[in-house]
Amino acid sequence: MALHRSVCLLNSALLPLLLLLAEGTGGARALRLSRWDQKIWMPTDKVEAEEDGEERGTKWAVLVAGSYGYGNYRHQADVCHAYQLLKRGGLKDENIVVFMYDDIATHDFNPRPGVIINHPQGDDVYAGVPKDYTGEDVTAQNLFAVLLGDKSLLKGGSGKVVESKPNDRIFLYYSDHGGQGVLGMPNMPFLYAKDFIDVLKMKHASGSYKEMVLYVEACESGSIFEGLMPDDLNIYVTTASGPDEESWGTYCPGMEPAPPPEYITCLGDLFSVAWLEDSETHNLKKQTIEDQYQRVKVRTSNHNTYSVGSHVMVYGNESIKTELLYLYQGFDPATDKLPQNKFDLDIRMDVINQRDADLLFLWQRYKRSKADSEKKEILKQLTQTMQHRVHLDQSIELIGMLLLGPENGPPLLNAVRPRGLPVVDDWECLKSMVVVFETRCGSLTQYGMKHMRAFANICNNGISLTAMEEACRTACSSHTILDQWSPTIRGYSA
Ligand SMILES: *[C@@H]1O[C@H](CO)[C@@H](O)[C@H](O)[C@H]1NC(C)=O
Repeated sequence: MALHRSVCLLNSALLPLLLLLAEGTGGARALRLSRWDQKIWMPTDKVEAEEDGEERGTKWAVLVAGSYGYGNYRHQADVCHAYQLLKRGGLKDENIVVFMYDDIATHDFNPRPGVIINHPQGDDVYAGVPKDYTGEDVTAQNLFAVLLGDKSLLKGGSGKVVESKPNDRIFLYYSDHGGQGVLGMPNMPFLYAKDFIDVLKMKHASGSYKEMVLYVEACESGSIFEGLMPDDLNIYVTTASGPDEESWGTYCPGMEPAPPPEYITCLGDLFSVAWLEDSETHNLKKQTIEDQYQRVKVRTSNHNTYSVGSHVMVYGNESIKTELLYLYQGFDPATDKLPQNKFDLDIRMDVINQRDADLLFLWQRYKRSKADSEKKEILKQLTQTMQHRVHLDQSIELIGMLLLGPENGPPLLNAVRPRGLPVVDDWECLKSMVVVFETRCGSLTQYGMKHMRAFANICNNGISLTAMEEACRTACSSHTILDQWSPTIRGYSA
């Protein structure tokens, strides 16, 4: 006892000697000492003693930003921020796998070259982020390979995978656009919910982790797990929004809290900054996953005003939520000296829905550009973006009418399935419908992911691929659709 108590007072240069001494009192403790370079274990500390059993495993993390482009700054900012949090919490780079397109820090529009921030007054979160899977290597396929720990399935990237053992815990965090049953990826195809859940099942079957916690932010992120996520995989999930609900960007130009004036893009997302800032301002050895969920839920609903916020959802094995957060996110000794609320977490946050953030970005660029030629070019982009949106909305509506009749088409396409049912039963059908549509009608884009429910309902109504092909040909060969374009921005409500 006395020996260990004095250990924490000694200079770290003596660590090798201490390890040797600890060897005599038990190999397990020596191992502990060698793993911890900052905090030395004290057997008299009750909390620490309790964690001994819990802590034998390694903490792994997989961080995924699913988008690219400066208008989507916020997703990569969220993910970089998460990396810094975990790193300060003691996770090692070899155990943190990062997926990010990595086009933000060096982007021409970035007012602070080489820097990414995730809060208006925040520090740089980019320095040190491992570049495991960037650019064209950010794919659903590589994410699955990483989770399964199967290097043979990888294409490109650093080769880092989750080589977890039965006692290990895994934390996965994802931020991007989404749609019913899909999460975005900067390189097609989307990540389909069914494939993702199948990968989680395979991972579970391999017996290579103890428990897993997933935080997912995207529009309709609940639909990735609704009716699909089993409760016996030792996985606990929270999503930013329900299966039929948008998720929100925040710290946007022209809104409160505003980013520094030189930023023309949103810095974060509501659910993401809610959990990240929560973790930063609490001692994670004293907070459970449930504690965080409760606070994040309030903040993500924008203090229970759900019209500009969303419902944080829970899936999987809910027993896991009684566990302490540090088991997944690590522990930063600095958080012991709380309260250290650098920022006010109780304020109302202005938000913009994920799908309109790119319009806000283009609008900011337009407003700020000086040269006429530049203004004209941006206006052209803005116009084309809106035209494509209208084209997508109208072709889907028309396809629905062609396939299901003018009366029934629209309501059937928009039908929401009851809770507990997945968005679609036949996932191969859903994938094929998307391919057929894109071939005839053009790219769905981030915005068009909102129509995933229509494709799902086309499948749910037993429509054949041939019928869909025919309808797409009819709906999308006509140029009159574009001619009807009106300059009001459809669905744009800031
Ligand atoms: C849920 O997790 C708890 C705690 O790890 C475990 O005891 C329980 O068996 C799990 N439930 C299911 C259905 O697997």
